[in-house]
Amino acid sequence: MLCLGIETSCDETALALVRDGNLIDSVLASQSDIHALFGGVVPELASREHCRYIGPLFDELVQRNGILPGQIDVVSVTRGPGLLGSLLVGVAFAKALSLTIDAKLLGINHLHAHLLATGLEQNFRFPVLGLLVSGGHTHLYHIQNIKDFRQIGKTLDDAAGEAFDKVGKTLGLPYPCGRAVDALAVAGTADPHLLPRPCLDNGTLDFSFSGLKTAALRCLDNYPELRNRAYSFKSAGEAPDILKNFCASFNLAVVDTLCDKTRRALDAYPEIRTLLFAGGVASNTLLRERMAELARRRGSRALSPSPALCTDNAAMIAYAAWLFAKEGFCHALDMETIPRGTPIPDDMIENKQRTAA
Ligand code: KG4
Ligand code: ZN
Repeated sequence: MLCLGIETSCDETALALVRDGNLIDSVLASQSDIHALFGGVVPELASREHCRYIGPLFDELVQRNGILPGQIDVVSVTRGPGLLGSLLVGVAFAKALSLTIDAKLLGINHLHAHLLATGLEQNFRFPVLGLLVSGGHTHLYHIQNIKDFRQIGKTLDDAAGEAFDKVGKTLGLPYPCGRAVDALAVAGTADPHLLPRPCLDNGTLDFSFSGLKTAALRCLDNYPELRNRAYSFKSAGEAPDILKNFCASFNLAVVDTLCDKTRRALDAYPEIRTLLFAGGVASNTLLRERMAELARRRGSRALSPSPALCTDNAAMIAYAAWLFAKEGFCHALDMETIPRGTPIPDDMIENKQRTAA
């Protein structure tokens, strides 16, 4: 079964082909350079760029793999959460294509796809716990099967990636800033007492990163040279120690918080031996080390997609679509976007042919 995946939820136009659960090829046009000029994603610009790239990227993907559009069995697309205008570009393209080539249509939840993408590279069995850490979301899930994701924890304010981006922006690092903070943190030495570990003094599995972000920004008042961005360096290793050490301290505070709540989730579900973690922040060097250590100590497994598959991509959409399609699910042409992600409509059609709206 050949599945095309389309991802346009934010600032990356991505398409990928997955055959029987194996990634064949993918193409991606990143808009980060454009949005970097504004220090964040500008929704209208994002939609326009998706419109510009989606057709040519599709042509490039099928042509370089010698595939005729009619050979595609499933056209899948991110239906949310994400920016409405951006999602609509992908969903409109997917509907038109599926109708033209008579392929099944599948709308995929972006957050769930991030976690399910682990299966592209590693085998695991449900039930599992899932930590989704991205630019817009920080969720803990109890996952019974591909359709049954129960949210057991969430951020009460900012997402972990958002905290990386906002602190990094103040430091003058390139947007999105998580990768740069990570690289500087690896080269620096963390002070574990510099910043607080928020939201740990309670019994919930919820996160909060807004207070940590504010504490980090206030702490920068003590380092005017960092606020003024009066530095220049070519690689993380060459950066000033004060910048590297600050990034290391901030990085450690975020990772400590994520690990503490994840440990509590594992304690709450001792029968579950597998933890998945995914989303852009899951490519963080320290988080990957600490999650592996956390799982090892408990005799469990912590699995994550490889870093390139942690950030937004279309392989995860095509792979999730394959999981659903082989169970006989698809969507009708009246499928709608879910920009806010919830409530997730249970509107898949089971073991039936697609019906036109
Ligand atoms: O999943 P993703 O690509 O897009 C969303 O769905 O949001 O995640 C993007 C987020 C951004 O906030 C980015 O700064 C963060 O992931 N990120 C990282 C790293 N790489 C990307 N955060 C920390 N460490 C990284 N290595
Ligand atoms: Zn994402």
